[in-house]
Amino acid sequence: MTVTWTAGDPMAQAVDVLVVGAYEGEAVQGAVGTVDQALDGVIERAVRRKEFEAKPRTVWVGPTLGRLPAERVLVVGLGPRAELTVDGVRQAYGQVAQKLEAIKADTVAVGLLGGDVLAAEAVAEAAVEGLLLGGWRYDGFKQKPPERPPVAVTVYVEPLSESVRTRLERGRILAEAANRAREMGCRPANQLTPDDFAREAVERAERAGLAAEVFDEVRLRELGMGGILAVGQGSTHPPRMVVLRYQGGGNRTLALVGKGITFDSGGLSLKPAAGMEEMKYDMLGAAAVLSALEAVAALRPALNVVGILCLAENLPSGSATRPGDVVKTFGGKTIEITNTDAEGRVALADGVGYAVSLGADWIVDAATLTGAAIIVLGHEATALVATDDELARRVETAAARAGERVWRLPVYPEYRELYKSDVADLKNAPGRDAGTITGGLIISEFAGDKPFCHLDIAGTAWRKENALNARFGPTGVPVRTLVHLAFGLAGAD
Ligand code: BES
Ligand code: ZN
Ligand code: MN
Repeated sequence: MTVTWTAGDPMAQAVDVLVVGAYEGEAVQGAVGTVDQALDGVIERAVRRKEFEAKPRTVWVGPTLGRLPAERVLVVGLGPRAELTVDGVRQAYGQVAQKLEAIKADTVAVGLLGGDVLAAEAVAEAAVEGLLLGGWRYDGFKQKPPERPPVAVTVYVEPLSESVRTRLERGRILAEAANRAREMGCRPANQLTPDDFAREAVERAERAGLAAEVFDEVRLRELGMGGILAVGQGSTHPPRMVVLRYQGGGNRTLALVGKGITFDSGGLSLKPAAGMEEMKYDMLGAAAVLSALEAVAALRPALNVVGILCLAENLPSGSATRPGDVVKTFGGKTIEITNTDAEGRVALADGVGYAVSLGADWIVDAATLTGAAIIVLGHEATALVATDDELARRVETAAARAGERVWRLPVYPEYRELYKSDVADLKNAPGRDAGTITGGLIISEFAGDKPFCHLDIAGTAWRKENALNARFGPTGVPVRTLVHLAFGLAGAD
């Protein structure tokens, strides 16, 4: 899908599909009323039959029989006027994008849906975000790729003010960043090794105007990063850590740390075969951090942001880490590896420790860390584990702005007892109890006294069912939350 914008009236465009929005309970008023009149009341009859009631995320498509400039019309439900939110608008556009793909739309004209209720600027941003997220697709590696020309959507805004233009552009930057993370998540592990990932990160960082640095296995050893090295030592593709820097001015720094396990077999604590192929997406935390940094570089919030990508492949082999091994992480804390499948926290220990050494003021990690996060919240919300209330609230606000749900879990001191080790400072895999919480708290042990927040995206970065911005697979969560967080901490969102 391509999305552009211009000044004008969508109703007047000779396009393949005209998109209009309808409110529940008043479905044939405004633009829809005009369309309905031209079509002799066909939409009103659909409403009376309860075939289309303008409920949120429902759509109705029909031909215009030459009575309107457009060939076809797509009506999207916005729900009751009084209940419309910016996220509702984003969802509606996402639904529109998916339907446009399904009906093989060619050229499309749409205005600011809900622009009569909400501020034009907010709707403009949500429109482009929803369209680009909902219209995203992944072409894969087939010899003959599916021949589908992209749907070309034009958003018509009247008047197209400077402030609306800025927000349309911001929506594009945010959605394209999320979509780049989604694309990476689809790439199989044989086409995205830690080194491939690091090279791509450097290339993209340079294009975005970010400083980038890569630590290879030799440098990781020099730095004493025994955690990430232990996770990757069973693979012939050695680990990498990438450090990206955005200088937005001032002396405050947000550190974003991403779990980038390019494949998680579990290591010697091997996972079951069924579904193991999905563990190619165990790098979506790092992909999100990379994408968020690119968007930050484009949108320029007034604070400094560092992105730290912890990249390794977790495989069993003669050189793999064994259960019972003790590893020393950056900064000296030791971890007893009681389960090699709890590798994310071990790799992130070095990344978070490194963020502290860089003088970060806030540390947030994003990680597909635990299956338990899916057990507790399903695919509907990211699990948030924070040791700092103020930072947790900031992240919650940012997530609400992005329309990406997060849910905070408690961090009672008793949970910290669960990962005590007899032989090391802590063990990586306590029992099943409170698995998502202990995962987050183990990572927090490496954040020193810095405000710390962990986002467990195991359930939200990838989902099987249909969703607004994911007909299948990767969602791009939490890229947009992280960008909004940077703006929030800069005092500008
Ligand atoms: N990458 C997995 C978590 C995961 C599971 C992500 C399913 C997405 C979908 C992680 O490395 C893992 O294996 N975690 C273990 C931790 C346990 C051994 C303490 C888990 O969740 O079982
Ligand atoms: Zn993992
Ligand atoms: Mn694992």
